[in-house]
Amino acid sequence: MTAVGSYLPANIVTNEALSSFVDTDDAWIRRRTGISQRHLVADGETTADLANNAAIKALANAGLTGTDIDLIIVATTTPDNTFPSTATKLQNMIGAKGAIAFDVQAVCAGFVYALDIADAMLQSGRGRRALVVGAESFSKLLDWEDRTTCVLFGDGAGAVVLEVADNADAWGIRSSVLHSDGAYRDILYVDGGPSVNAAVGHVRMEGKEVFRHAVEKLASVMDEALGAANMQAHEIDWLVPHQANIRIIDAMQKKMGLPSDRVVRTVEQHANTSAASIPLALATAVGDGRIKNGDIIAMEAIGGGLVWGAALVKFGRP
Ligand code: UT7
Repeated sequence: MTAVGSYLPANIVTNEALSSFVDTDDAWIRRRTGISQRHLVADGETTADLANNAAIKALANAGLTGTDIDLIIVATTTPDNTFPSTATKLQNMIGAKGAIAFDVQAVCAGFVYALDIADAMLQSGRGRRALVVGAESFSKLLDWEDRTTCVLFGDGAGAVVLEVADNADAWGIRSSVLHSDGAYRDILYVDGGPSVNAAVGHVRMEGKEVFRHAVEKLASVMDEALGAANMQAHEIDWLVPHQANIRIIDAMQKKMGLPSDRVVRTVEQHANTSAASIPLALATAVGDGRIKNGDIIAMEAIGGGLVWGAALVKFGRP
């Protein structure tokens, strides 16, 4: 993973602003989630636009252009259209003429899923450079009359560049573990879709149940990822977790025995941006100089399905 980039829509909606049209208040949202604001797309601004802005920055930071990219995977649950994929739209926007491009749908775990797939494809010789993007206009799935969900999410995009390098054995993705369990699909889902009712639908969630699964499953998948990389938690420089709830993030920090200042937290400013949350957090911490070349980064996420996963990465290039 040689470079990152991110983009947030200009429109910031604070908890106070939300409280003017949703039956909620700033104190509840902060106390239960750690969120104080979220960015929301403007009219006419789409997921592909967010992805494009993030991709342009990631490519510039890698010193590359679209023509250098062999593979584009966009993790999104809020594609511009049911088809074609947002990834092919992005391909055209960045001029990655020869690339393979497709979307991955694993909701909030989409970025760790897409990363694993991209790594496997590069490892198997399907190209030398991949662009992995998490991009969401999650606000388009929200029921603004349901205060138990609408206060939690935001919009944005983050992108990373993966490059195959010679003599870089210990760099890049050191381990990646993914899981799915469709038995839990009813605790977090959207009540619409092309074949169910030809509608986009709204997010429905049993928050407490999802919370319980998150704390348990993220800790156990992180243990698996550490075991697969033959590493221990204290060797991690940065935990860059999915940003759903500060209480889940703090629980993971404690379970892993990491100092608090080794955890990247962006949920306060970004809220839960689903597949975009990890690359947005990564770009924040690389941008402000916390994450440096050669640092070991641990990532984890869980989303509707349920789907969850963790990855350990040595960031940068030798
Ligand atoms: O990214 C995918 C993964 N998603 C997650 O990880 C989300 C996991 N779940 C959570 O983060 C938390 O469960 C929530 C933040 C969604 C909810 O927090 P909670 O501590 O589990 O609260 P709750 O749902 O049990 O609700 C507690 C109270 C209820 O009132 P009563 O029944 O105790 O009188 C709710 O009606 O808070 C009330 N409430 C609200 N009050 C003000 C629920 N939403 C709101 C709200 N504003 N927005």
